[in-house]
This record gives sequence, C-alpha cells and structure tokens, in this order.
Amino acid sequence: MNKKTVSKTSLFFSGLLSRMEENKDFFTDITINFKSGTKIFPAKILYSNEITLDYQAVKAEYTKDNIWDKIAEEMLKYDEAQIIYNERGARIVIDANDKKVGMRHEDTLNEVDKTSVVQTGREYVVNPSLAKELLTEIGILAKNGKIKNDKIRKYNQIDYFVELMQGVLKEIGDRDEYVILDAACGKSYLSFVMNFYLREILKKKCRFIGVDYSETVINASRKIAKNLNYNNMEFIKADLTEYTPSVRPDIVISLHACDTATDMALALGIRSKSRAIVSVPCCHKDILKQYSYKPFEAITRHGILKARLADTLTDGLRTTYLESVGYKVSMIEYISPLETPKNIMIRAVYTGKINEKSKEEFENLKKILNVKPAIERFMKGDR
Ligand SMILES: C[S@@+](CC[C@H](N)C(=O)[O-])C[C@H]1O[C@@H](n2cnc3c(N)ncnc32)[C@H](O)[C@@H]1O
Repeated sequence: MNKKTVSKTSLFFSGLLSRMEENKDFFTDITINFKSGTKIFPAKILYSNEITLDYQAVKAEYTKDNIWDKIAEEMLKYDEAQIIYNERGARIVIDANDKKVGMRHEDTLNEVDKTSVVQTGREYVVNPSLAKELLTEIGILAKNGKIKNDKIRKYNQIDYFVELMQGVLKEIGDRDEYVILDAACGKSYLSFVMNFYLREILKKKCRFIGVDYSETVINASRKIAKNLNYNNMEFIKADLTEYTPSVRPDIVISLHACDTATDMALALGIRSKSRAIVSVPCCHKDILKQYSYKPFEAITRHGILKARLADTLTDGLRTTYLESVGYKVSMIEYISPLETPKNIMIRAVYTGKINEKSKEEFENLKKILNVKPAIERFMKGDR
C-alpha cells in the first residue's frame, strides 16, 4: 500500500484507539489481517494497561502513541489490510487498499440466535444468545448454547426482574452512571445479567456493588467478573446491617434475600438514600413469630393461614414503612407463581416527601398486631 492509503487509514485507526480507551470494559481486541495476494498475515492488538501487539509469533508492548507507527510500517509492505475492532455488541471494520479506504460499523447484538426464544415461549429482554459468554460463565447456559433445564426458572426470574427495571430506570431519570447495589447478592446472577442489559444493550454507564456476608459467594462473584473483564463490578463481603456504601446508590436491588435479610436490604436502601429500591422478598418468618390479632383468631388458629397472612402483613408493613420515609411504592406479582411462589416485587422510588399518614398507619399496625417489624429495627440499629 502506498503512503496516501496508510495516512488515510491512520485517521480511522486513531478513532479506534480512542474508542478502545473509552470502552475499555467492552473492548475485546483489534484484529488486523495484512494481505498480499491470497496470503493473509494476521496480527492482534490486546489492551489492558499496556497495548500488546501479537504479530508473527512475537508479543510486543506498545503505547497509544507508537502503536500506529508499527502498523503503518507493516501496511507499506502489503497490498491490503483489514482492521477489525471488536467490542462486546459492536464491530468496526476498516478495509484499506490503494483504491479505497472505508470503514463500517456492525452491531453484533443483532446477531441473535432465536432458538433460545423458543425454549420458553417468551421473548427474553436479555436474549441468552446475545449474552452467551456471560451466561456460560455463570452456569446458566450449557455447552450447546441452551439454557440448562435446572436453570430455566432462575433465568426467567432474573430476566423478568430486569424487564421490570425499565420502568424504575425511567422514574429515576437519566444518569451519567447508574450505581446499583445488589444487597445479599449471592453469586450475583441478577447483577451480572442486569449489568449486561444496562451496558451492552442500553449502552448506559453503570457500576455494580454486590454485598453478601458469605465469603464463598463474594469470591465466586469476583472471579466471574474478572473472567468477563467486568471492571465496573465490585463485590464486598459484609453484613447488610453493618454496611454503608460510600456513594449514594441509584437503585438497591435484592432478590430472594431470606427472611429479614430483605428488611436489611430495604433498610440499607433507605439509609443510603437510594433513589429506588427493588426487592423480591423470600421467606417471611419475623412477623409470623410475633403477631397476634384477636379478631382473626378463628383464622389464625390454622397454622397455614396464619403463615400466609403473616407473609402479607410483613410485606404490607414494609410497604407502609417505605412510604412513611418518603418512597412511592408499588407491589406487583412479577412472575407467575408457577415459576416461584416467592413472586412479589416491591418497587419503591424516592420522592423525598415524608408521608405522615403512612407513619401513623405504620404505628397503628404495629400496635394492633403487637409486632416490632424488622425493617424498623434495622433502621434503628437493633437486630
Ligand atoms: C437465597 S440467597 C439469594 C442470593 C441472590 N440474591 C440470588 O437471588 O441468587 C440469600 C443470600 O443472602 C445472604 N445474606 C443473608 N443474610 C445476610 C446478611 N445479614 N448480610 C449479607 N448477606 C446476607 C446469604 O449469604 C445468601 O447469599
């Protein structure tokens, strides 16, 4: 190729380098195929702290300022070059020869294998075929690219959760970077899928903080994030009652945090002034152990009915408390009970207006039921 071709290509290439730096977390590699006749001589550029060029069996380090000199030097020796910039969800291809230098963008998120849609009959928000690498890493997808049978329910729950975040995102409004705190994150499947949705589908900047007191799940989550090069995700081993984030979260999420761990998650959201809190509770034991209500004795003497009523009372008290401290709350059955009976979602968006009526209602409910709800205990620092 002649110098004019090389110089034209350099303009496109410098754009790729800027994008690589900006989208460091999404960036995969730049592959260059130098061509002479029918022969192809491939080179690969990788980027972490340094730029590494893997070319002709030699790996050498470069900087943003000198990598182009090396590429230009090689281009002059060949007839053509194809430069393929790869990041998750996108590909940019530069074709250069002495007749023409052209660049095209390809959205690889559209390269969807629709078979996974057929698996459950519902079109996923995060179609598994888009997120193959992620879902394989977290053990949702089998080697054949299908959702493992024993993971279909879990994935459905996560995907529905993510779908319902759309309304919450709208309510809290556009942010430069969304900070999401996953309280009682476990192995953080929900966070990983939500991160994929925000970053790679919606193209929003986001940061995830997963908190759990189990060292095992925190280490497992860190390992997954490292393998996937998700530098925007951190995982902290801490008890929810003792943890306060250093930044105000935009959304505190929590999926199936057992019993009062849900109250801990809600209290953490309130304490840290989260703009929104989205929680799907798990089992409910706290109020069941405490409540008595004389007028309902004919019902509550049947254990199963007392337990079912306790579930409703627990979530009702949580909602009333959230409202009293300035959240607008909606409760929905977020997924079919056939997928999981633990299918109530509490969605709370901060309004900043203390609600005196809800405050009074909360106090009245406590009195007539003779209970001290966990959410309030955790807000006061009592266990
Ligand atoms: C049923 S798992 C749910 C995990 C995850 N959210 C999911 O849906 O897969 C409940 C998690 O809550 C965590 N947990 C319970 N109490 C906690 C506390 N006080 N502080 C931090 N984590 C807690 C447990 O370690 C466990 O990982």
